[in-house]
Amino acid sequence: MSNRSHRNSGHIAMNRLKKAGVDHSSRNGISTAPPPETVHAVLVRDCVDLLRMLPDESVQLIICDPPYNIQVAGWDDVRDYRGWAAIWLREAERVLADTGNIAIFGGLQYQAEAGSGDLLAILAHMRESSRMRLANLVVWNYASAHRFFANRHEEIAWFGKTARYYFDLDAVREPYDDKTKQAYRRDKRLRPESIEKGKNPTNVWRIPRLNGNSQERVGHPTQKPREVVRRLVRALSYPGSVVLDFFAGSGVTTRVAIEEGRHSIAGDLDPAMPAWLERQLQGLSGREYRLLDARRLREHPALTAAV
Ligand SMILES: C[S@@+](CC[C@H](N)C(=O)[O-])C[C@H]1O[C@@H](n2cnc3c(N)ncnc32)[C@H](O)[C@@H]1O
Repeated sequence: MSNRSHRNSGHIAMNRLKKAGVDHSSRNGISTAPPPETVHAVLVRDCVDLLRMLPDESVQLIICDPPYNIQVAGWDDVRDYRGWAAIWLREAERVLADTGNIAIFGGLQYQAEAGSGDLLAILAHMRESSRMRLANLVVWNYASAHRFFANRHEEIAWFGKTARYYFDLDAVREPYDDKTKQAYRRDKRLRPESIEKGKNPTNVWRIPRLNGNSQERVGHPTQKPREVVRRLVRALSYPGSVVLDFFAGSGVTTRVAIEEGRHSIAGDLDPAMPAWLERQLQGLSGREYRLLDARRLREHPALTAAV
């Protein structure tokens, strides 16, 4: 019914949190209820400069979609990729809360093409130089293959900062279809509540990429679908916590953070980012939120207080 190792790692993490007094309920600042209003900082800034503005242990989740170093755009060409990544990875670890997580997008196959860095370089660096633990390597499988050997997946490396990393599997379970439910209900070994809860989405996520005509598109060349970011935000952060994206691009993380009742900080070197974000927020309704600029980031307790 579910992938054993995935289920175990989730349950082990949740049990650890519970034992440590960090539960899904409203203890130790972890709440299931979204705050009445969320705040969202938006900064046009280099990733390292932004990270250095943030205090230690102030962020629950980092959505990190770095340049791939395959020259898809002017920003996608970094000479010493691993050396550069080491700087922001160290800062990212510092700003993450004890229960924090980082989800790093990337491909494993880019290295040969570019001759420099990619997710493999990051994973190698993390293994040698970081205490964060690889909780899952998620395979984001974005389309059915029409041609053999065409690349049809990208990876998302999820690291928990410590063994106390937060993980809410129930927030991202997938419902069983009616036929499966009926079959499982006849199986007396299965508990009815578990069947109703739905299934573990596993570490292979079948979610289409945004095509050229997608309604979601705001103009950024490598924009990620909301559905992928939403799954990460729901599972790896909790309502009212802070989600950081220092390669924010189209602003998709901010949009999802608003919808999911999280605070957020978005930064990107590209001056077009605030305009893309504005397009992301068009038509968004039902949530109270406030956007803050760089000057007000330090002032706002929800964004800079250690969680
Ligand atoms: C792969 S894209 C992120 C796309 C984003 N996840 C989305 O779904 O829209 C990488 C982004 O990193 C930004 N970038 C590149 N170098 C940067 C740096 N040193 N500091 C901050 N942002 C940078 C680029 O402008 C680009 O928007």
